[in-house]
Amino acid sequence: MLRRSLLAMSESARLRRLISTAPYTAGVVARFVAGETAVEAEAATERLRADGLLVTLDHLGEDTTQPEHAAAAADEYIRMIERLARAGLTGGGCAEVSVKPTAMGLRLAAQGEKTAAGHIARICAAARAAGTTVTVDMEDHETVDATLRIVAELRSDFADLGCVIQSYLRRSERDCAQLAQPGYRVRLCKGAYSAPEDVAYPTRQQVDRSYARCLRVLMAGHGLPMIATHDPRLIKIAAAQATLAGRPADSYEFQMLYGVSPAGQRRLADSGTQVRVYVPYGSDWYSYLVRRLAERPANLMFFLRALASRR
Ligand code: FDA
Repeated sequence: MLRRSLLAMSESARLRRLISTAPYTAGVVARFVAGETAVEAEAATERLRADGLLVTLDHLGEDTTQPEHAAAAADEYIRMIERLARAGLTGGGCAEVSVKPTAMGLRLAAQGEKTAAGHIARICAAARAAGTTVTVDMEDHETVDATLRIVAELRSDFADLGCVIQSYLRRSERDCAQLAQPGYRVRLCKGAYSAPEDVAYPTRQQVDRSYARCLRVLMAGHGLPMIATHDPRLIKIAAAQATLAGRPADSYEFQMLYGVSPAGQRRLADSGTQVRVYVPYGSDWYSYLVRRLAERPANLMFFLRALASRR
């Protein structure tokens, strides 16, 4: 219930204005967002790389309603990739990017899917030139079919294009079975959006069980599973399944969010597993932050205290 109300907050324009301009929230934002500028994002990438972690960068922004905003968002990704390449951070896919289809225009009134596919293709071409990859994020359940269609279409030119599956959706085990193919990069997460019960599992326990089932399919398959969770139990299950499937350490990776369990990220990387950190940057951080607050009540209390603070 609390999670649903919080996720509804992410759609309120008034709250967005109030919270985005409150001076007291900067500390909370800084925990989850690497900064507003490309310079800050590059610096965060360098720090993480020095700690032995891989990176995927997300330029914040979603639900674009103007074609020119979608084009500008894609241009920003391309500039960021070129910047990272100049700094020697992209080789071998060490730092890649994650892209939201609705930021690329998926929800535009006219030709949304075609526009988003075109912009993602431009980003893929820049990533290829820089020696790295792109992963397409998954957003709310109404975008899943279009997102998977875009990824399938672009894979004929960019075979290493990654996608995301959310275990809270009832369809996801079937999607995993279709995607567990040679060369396919599939990020498995629990899912961060609000979805009705006919399409999504309503309880945490069901979502976790579905995650374990999806994991089994991906690990037994022939692609590169990207295990995006901070849940210690699922991380253990994933490691055990990788061993069972005889997977070498470079045939899968763990992924975690910037600011969530940084010590756990380093511990896992020190144990010899590949760990990639999802690093968001940019000024349009409101919806991303609300999803992070919804994941953990303790975050919300921290945030409310910051809002109430007058110092
Ligand atoms: P769970 O929520 O059960 O948390 C397990 C433990 O992790 C918690 O007990 C807590 O200790 C810690 N934790 C988790 N979230 C925290 C937070 N916000 N603050 C502090 N501690 C926290 N979703 C989506 O719908 N589409 C997508 O494309 C992506 N992409 C994505 C990429 C990567 C790399 C990650 C790690 C996650 C995503 N997600 C996502 C988000 C994902 O769906 C999910 O909402 C979060 O990862 C939280 O779920 P956990 O699996 O960590 O489990």
